[in-house]
Amino acid sequence: MPAPLIAPSILSADFARLADEAAAVAGSDWLHVDVMDAHFVPNLTLGLPVVESLLKATDIPLDCHLMIEDPDRWAPPYAEAGAHNVTVHAEAARDPRKLAKDLHAAGALAGLSIKPKTPLDDWIEVLADYDTLLVMSVEPGFGGQSFMPEVLDKVRTARRLVDTGHLTVLVEIDGGISADTVEQAAEAGVDCFVAGSAVYGADDPARAVAALREQAAA
Ligand code: DX5
Ligand code: ZN
Repeated sequence: MPAPLIAPSILSADFARLADEAAAVAGSDWLHVDVMDAHFVPNLTLGLPVVESLLKATDIPLDCHLMIEDPDRWAPPYAEAGAHNVTVHAEAARDPRKLAKDLHAAGALAGLSIKPKTPLDDWIEVLADYDTLLVMSVEPGFGGQSFMPEVLDKVRTARRLVDTGHLTVLVEIDGGISADTVEQAAEAGVDCFVAGSAVYGADDPARAVAALREQAAA
């Protein structure tokens, strides 16, 4: 197994000090940026202008998680801007295959996300077109919610599909990841761990990232 990736979510950071908050987790593999449009999810966060500024403010690769309607139209500009990975929701995408191609053409990795109640089965066919599969372990919209262990079955299935199909898809998990839950997620086969409140709620965010990485690798 390659070393686990840790992606702190700036949803739990201070939005008025994003450059400093990114610097506070400098050793992270990816910086997770939650874009919410108040339609796909009942919350509104930030959009492309903030991502463009963040790209100038940090060297950490940005992992943009778009919880928005009509990602076929709105996601490619995040890739063009320079985001490392652009994740769209399977429930919102009209043509996920074409969208993955568009994101690749714009120079980013392409991610596909499924909400806790969305079955993986419907998306197995398109998985090979994507670089990451983000399994939501809370209902998308807010940080600080409790981890839903029932999604781990989907993680195990995804792990098996990726390994047996020799796919280059990273399995990512998002929601409620902390010192209490990271090990069960790692055991189920997660490669990349998003953590918001567990990192930015800690006294030392960098230390929290390092601790999660150690636990995930154990
Ligand atoms: C929720 C977001 C998550 C959120 C996770 O919709 O997608 O990325 O920041 O926050 P925690 O780790 O606090 O559950
Ligand atoms: Zn997220």
